[in-house]
Amino acid sequence: MKMQNKVALVTGAALGYRHGGPSIGSAIAFKLASEGAKVVVVDVLEEMGEGTANGIRENGGTSLFIRTDVSNTDEVKRAVEMTRQEFGALHCLVNCAASYRGEIAKNVVEISEEDWKRIVDVNLNGYFRFAKYGIPLILQSGGGTIVNISSSAAFRVLKDFSVYPVTKAAINALTRTLAIDFAPHVRANAICPGFVRIANSEGDRSPQEVEQWIEGIAKTYPLKRVCSVEEVANVALFLASDDSSYINGECIIVDGGRSVCDTHEF
Ligand SMILES: NC(=O)c1ccc[n+]([C@@H]2O[C@H](COP(=O)([O-])OP(=O)(O)OC[C@H]3O[C@@H](n4cnc5c(N)ncnc54)[C@H](O)[C@@H]3O)[C@@H](O)[C@H]2O)c1
Repeated sequence: MKMQNKVALVTGAALGYRHGGPSIGSAIAFKLASEGAKVVVVDVLEEMGEGTANGIRENGGTSLFIRTDVSNTDEVKRAVEMTRQEFGALHCLVNCAASYRGEIAKNVVEISEEDWKRIVDVNLNGYFRFAKYGIPLILQSGGGTIVNISSSAAFRVLKDFSVYPVTKAAINALTRTLAIDFAPHVRANAICPGFVRIANSEGDRSPQEVEQWIEGIAKTYPLKRVCSVEEVANVALFLASDDSSYINGECIIVDGGRSVCDTHEF
C-alpha cells in the first residue's frame, strides 16, 4: 500500500467518454486508490467522472468526484477547497486533463486564434492552475508529489498538430520549474507517453477498423505494440510514491523505445 494515508487529486480522470473504457486519468485514479490513496476525481464529464469515483468505492476505496473545468479558475479553487474540507489534505496532484480531438489537428496557418487559446487554456493553463492553487495545500499537508501527464509529442512533433506539442513541451518546462521552486517539499515529474490505447481512440471506426489502425501504429514501435493505460498508471504510481524519492524534475518518456531510434520500421 504505497499511497496509504495519502490524498491524491487526478484531473481528466473520467472513465473515457465514447466507449466507457479507461482513460489514462481513470487508470491512474484506480491505481493510486488500489494502493490506499483517497482519490479526488476531477473532470468536466459528470457521469463518467462519477463512474470512476463509484468504481473506486465499489473496490473498497475512498473517492470523491468534483466536476471541474480546468480552464475555470473559480472551479479549480473550489475543487482544491473541497478536497481540503473533505479529506483535510492533499499529497499528490496528477494533472492529466487535456483536449486533443481532431478539430485541433491543424497547422499554425489553419488553426484559429480562438482554438489555439482555448487549447492552451485547458492543456497548459489547466496544469498551471491546479499547481498554483493545489501546491499551498500540499505544503500545508507536509509536502508531496506532482505528476504531469505530458507526451512524447513534447520532443517529436506530430504533423499538422501545432498547438498540442507546444502545450506538452511547455508542460515539461513547467514540471522542471515546479521541481526546483518547491523542493524539498514537493517533487514534480512528468510522464511523456507515446501512443496509448484508450477506449475512445475508436471514434467512429468499426472495431475491425480500429484493430487495423492500431496494428499499423504498433508496427512503428520497437515493442511491436502500443502502450496500455495500465503501463502509464504504473509509472504514475512510481512517481507519486516514495519509490521515486530521489527523482525530481524528470520528464520520463514511456514509448517502448520509439524515440531513441531514427527509423520507425521495426
Ligand atoms: N492516449 C494517448 O495516446 C496519449 C499519448 C500521450 C499523452 N496523452 C495525454 O494523456 C492525457 C489523458 O488523455 P487520454 O488519452 O486518456 O484522453 P481522454 O480524452 O480520454 O482524457 C482526457 C480527459 O480530460 C478531460 N478534460 C478535457 N478538457 C477538460 C477540462 N477543460 N476540464 C476538465 N477535464 C477536461 C476529458 O473529459 C477527458 O476525460 C492527456 O494529457 C493526453 O494529452 C495521451
